[in-house]
Amino acid sequence: MKIDAMTTLYGIIGWPVSHSLSPLFQNGFIEHSGKNAAYVSFPVAPDQLEPALDGLWALGVAGFNVTVPHKEQAFVRTQADADARLIGAVNTVRRSDAGWQATNTDWQGFRSVVEGLQLPLQGADVLLFGAGGTSRAVLHALASLQVGRLFICNRNPDRLTALIDHARQAYPALSCLPLAWDQQAVDRVCATAPLLVNTTSVGLKDGQQFPFVLSGAGAAMDAVYRPDGDTAFTLAAREAGRMAVDGLPMLISQGAAAFAWWHDCAMPDCLASLRHIEEQLG
Ligand code: ATR
Repeated sequence: MKIDAMTTLYGIIGWPVSHSLSPLFQNGFIEHSGKNAAYVSFPVAPDQLEPALDGLWALGVAGFNVTVPHKEQAFVRTQADADARLIGAVNTVRRSDAGWQATNTDWQGFRSVVEGLQLPLQGADVLLFGAGGTSRAVLHALASLQVGRLFICNRNPDRLTALIDHARQAYPALSCLPLAWDQQAVDRVCATAPLLVNTTSVGLKDGQQFPFVLSGAGAAMDAVYRPDGDTAFTLAAREAGRMAVDGLPMLISQGAAAFAWWHDCAMPDCLASLRHIEEQLG
């Protein structure tokens, strides 16, 4: 990859952002495509979002990703599309003649990984753990996949109720049901659900165990990713005999969808990127 006076700049804003894998695979996508572009990380403190957006604009940056803690705030200074507005978060921004345009590709990342698993989801039960920001993107994707009943299980009942209310309002065709934070309730749904999804942050910290034993057949997808192997959730799912996928393919796929949106092209090959990252991380 050469950098010269014509190089177009992309990046990611977040705080902290040094741990982000996005520069690794985005520069891989750039290299494979042969474009004269580069992707870097910009640490932007929580109170610096608005000056940062103005600064990126003034410097001619062509597009950028948005990560914690700015995803819910990045509606300022940007024109967000319907997906981002329904999810309530922005993760991708691009320059246009009319100013910054914003979208959310997290749901596309989730959906393309689910589609790759080829599960019998139409009309089927799905169990979603978590009711935070990530769950809103997963919910948006599941609504587009025409699943049958979506059970949502969250430790904090107030957040659970808020998410169920949002789901019923935003996706009236989706049958969305609260599930008690309780092993027996989880067992009941696991028995019929071909897909379990974890959007809680359990497993991000060392030594955490998933709070439930999982059972049943089918797949399990975690939004959490750990460079050292299984997550708490993928471990629990594998112990039950389920096929388990951690958050890395989803992360790369949301990045591929962002790349396609910035460059108005097809999504780059995520599988090649996944292998490249695994080699780099050992
Ligand atoms: P994100 O944007 O990554 O989704 P978030 O909005 O802070 O982060 O949501 C975190 C999710 O993880 C919530 O569903 C939270 O559950 P509560 O609403 O009960 O707090 C869940 N979570 C975090 N730590 C947890 C733990 N130790 N056990 C169970 N759930 C946990």
